[in-house]
Amino acid sequence: MSKAPLQIEAQVYYNYIRGEWVKSSSGKTYHTVNPANKNQILGYFQESTREDAKLGIQAAHDSFQFWRDTPAPIRGEVLFKAWILMKERAEELARTMTLEEGKPLADAKGEVKRSLNVLEFMAGEGRRLVGQTIPSELKNNFAYTIKKPLGVVAIITPWNFPLAIATWKISPALVSGNTVAFKPASSTPLSAINLVKLLVDAGLPKGVLNMVTGPGGTVGMELVENPLVRAISVTGHTETGAMIYEKASRMLKKVQCEMGGKNAVVVLEDADLDLAVEGIVQGAFGSTGQRCTSTSRVIVEEKIKDIFVRRLLERTKRLKIADGFTEGVDVSPLASDSQFNKVMSYIEVGKQEGATLLYGGKKPSGAEYENGYYVEPSIFTDVRPEMRIAQEEVFGPVLPIMVAKDSDEAINIANSVRYGLSASIYTNDITKAFKFTDMIEVGMIHINSPTLGGEAQLPFGGIKASGVGIREQGSKAIEFYTDEIVVYVDYTGRRREAKFI
Ligand code: UN1
Repeated sequence: MSKAPLQIEAQVYYNYIRGEWVKSSSGKTYHTVNPANKNQILGYFQESTREDAKLGIQAAHDSFQFWRDTPAPIRGEVLFKAWILMKERAEELARTMTLEEGKPLADAKGEVKRSLNVLEFMAGEGRRLVGQTIPSELKNNFAYTIKKPLGVVAIITPWNFPLAIATWKISPALVSGNTVAFKPASSTPLSAINLVKLLVDAGLPKGVLNMVTGPGGTVGMELVENPLVRAISVTGHTETGAMIYEKASRMLKKVQCEMGGKNAVVVLEDADLDLAVEGIVQGAFGSTGQRCTSTSRVIVEEKIKDIFVRRLLERTKRLKIADGFTEGVDVSPLASDSQFNKVMSYIEVGKQEGATLLYGGKKPSGAEYENGYYVEPSIFTDVRPEMRIAQEEVFGPVLPIMVAKDSDEAINIANSVRYGLSASIYTNDITKAFKFTDMIEVGMIHINSPTLGGEAQLPFGGIKASGVGIREQGSKAIEFYTDEIVVYVDYTGRRREAKFI
């Protein structure tokens, strides 16, 4: 029943470089606020420069030899200890996320659980960093592969999952033997600092993980352009990812970009409508629509359109809008002022394009909402596939509904965007469900469940403008953070015949 936010004193926080908490060379700080009450300052953070990022990268570089020589199971043990500490600190970690990102406390606790799952999986990878033995075509020859770490890797994380995404990028990097330069999102540095502290308390040696807060234009650019950085993993907007991909690939760095989505749910006429409505409401309005896997389009078969829209509207009207600490909250504030402005401007775009705003579209009225970045869950009907609200990533609780005459047309509409992250279909027709999995152009497909989420042991990511590079999470993540080296052993003791060379 607790409404009381975690008490956080607005103190000054530092970068973490070479095992020390240090000031930025700029001498400047910036502050963050509580999205539910913008008058509450949460802390002052280092507004770092390229110089600071260089120091972080250099520290990671200097620690690489030591860390790569540490046996992988021992590296895994650090993650296992971090898992124990994260379990102990779960409540505090969750409350910090609700305070700085705005998400409902239950979601924040879910995010801690998800981070624990990742640590559990990645700790085990320390004992599974396997290569392959592959038969040679030559007699008395033996061939095998070994996984080697890349060196310094840069990790750039977003604000919407400030703990889980940082955990699922940093932990596979570390267990593989890389050292890390980490730039967290500027609006959620407290969760990043919590994670760094946790790993340090778990025994991570100095210099192996370095965190530098500050703008993408300085810290981020240095991480991308510094020649000591061998790989970059970033989650963010497609435009940011594409820019990083372009710059980094010129320097032949490995890149993993996890970017935007415009995730469709297709509802066929035979669907269990209660299930579909629940899944869509959760997918579109949960996390206030600020997940890259959020449901951001619905395509419904014509015959059931009216009844579907009526049920969706009824369910949406029952959602409770409140701050993230309120018991039973469904829709909490957006994470920042810029998010609020962006979402409001897309609602205007939708109206101007001629879509019908069926529900929502405003900041809710009432004193409790005044100082927060609240926006009502919003539904548009009469949407055409080419409209901007049906094509672009809004990253807020705005749901456009389109109509298709049949399942094939629904799939065509679903594929008619630049993105390809996740999609879902509600149907009990197994033939149509399988056809959907065959035809739909996304990285993650859901049958009769929301477009959301992912499990720690499964690869996560999208295609088209949603993702580039090897997938995150599961054992795939290790593939990104390692090189697979081939070794040929010849035990004939003889010079090789020319014909075999
Ligand atoms: C999820 O939706 O459960 O930035 C995870 C994002 C994604 C991760 C989402 N990369 O929203």
